[in-house]
Amino acid sequence: MKYLVTGAAGFIGFHTAQRLLSQGHTVVGIDNLNDYYEVQLKKDRLKVLEPSEGFSFKFIDLADREGMVELFKTEQFDRVIHLAAQAGVRYSIDNPFAYADSNLIGHLAILEGCRHNNVKHLVYASSSSVYGLNTKMPFSTEDSVDHPISLYAATKKSNELMSHTYSHLYGIPTSGLRFFTVYGPWGRPDMALFKFTKAILEGKEIDVYNNGNMARDFTYIDDIVEGILRVAEKPPVANNDWAPEGGSAKDSSAPYYVYNIGNGSPVQLMDFVKAIEDAIGTEAKKNFMDMQPGDVYKTWADTDDLEKVTGHKPQVGVKEGVKAFVDWYREYYGV
Ligand SMILES: NC(=O)c1ccc[n+]([C@@H]2O[C@H](COP(=O)([O-])OP(=O)(O)OC[C@H]3O[C@@H](n4cnc5c(N)ncnc54)[C@H](O)[C@@H]3O)[C@@H](O)[C@H]2O)c1
Repeated sequence: MKYLVTGAAGFIGFHTAQRLLSQGHTVVGIDNLNDYYEVQLKKDRLKVLEPSEGFSFKFIDLADREGMVELFKTEQFDRVIHLAAQAGVRYSIDNPFAYADSNLIGHLAILEGCRHNNVKHLVYASSSSVYGLNTKMPFSTEDSVDHPISLYAATKKSNELMSHTYSHLYGIPTSGLRFFTVYGPWGRPDMALFKFTKAILEGKEIDVYNNGNMARDFTYIDDIVEGILRVAEKPPVANNDWAPEGGSAKDSSAPYYVYNIGNGSPVQLMDFVKAIEDAIGTEAKKNFMDMQPGDVYKTWADTDDLEKVTGHKPQVGVKEGVKAFVDWYREYYGV
């Protein structure tokens, strides 16, 4: 199969491309290598992918309309795994337009490419942040998600709406994946695990938001990649029994589906910090802080559907996953 992986220099895109290549697929990776976080890390991820025979990289911005049209036309992808986006909840407070360009215009460029080039399945990243003000736990794809609390979340929910439209109008099978706090080797410098590990190793304080009173459904990168690839193998079909009144939010009369991909068990932030301290062998100096605007208190994924459809149940626990990250971090930065 020939895959387009967008955001191939990013954390999840890199791991996804690597796994596809190991399975013998052809992968075209695209990325604009923006400086939202250290560009060297993105370049180093690409250096790992580049020796693979089936891999080619194209430096392109999703918002480059003509470039994207040309890319789809020339390459003729079987499947598209769309992971490029402006990520991060806090950054959207100060940089709202970055989200409109990459996440809205960019998603539209992907949908148009799929529409005009007979792509068999579009799998794209949504986010647990779409659950916004929802308090019913675990978060279910059956629930309505109409009350986001960050612009980032609003763009991710918009991606689901835009995808539904294209599934309905043009019959493109689309699967949206709501990822729950993904972590692991080659992870993102703007996320807590990276920041905490760095600070502890440098003997600096870590900022613990909402005085540590938060919980996250931390999901290890290998479980995420397994979920993405198994979903990619199962393009959704139209549910002919679906009706607008009382019909489920996760599927439709169009070939459209939305999944949660999380570990399915929330971990208290302070237990997560303890796992990092144990992996490093040093206790953290903690700076307890208030809740940040746009953050949610707890995330917890109902992953029954993912397991039912793909047979995959995330496996890796926080102790094991955090240790793998810390080992990678120490080797990569030589500390
Ligand atoms: N990591 C998580 O915990 C998490 C949670 C929920 C959702 N997600 C979503 O998963 C996807 C992948 O996230 P990630 O953690 O790998 O983030 P990442 O920032 O490491 O990767 C995204 C990549 O996309 C690229 N990119 C951004 N805008 C672009 C544009 N306009 N044109 C071309 N390339 C562009 C970036 O340079 C980056 O390399 C994103 O859509 C993100 O919103 C991630």
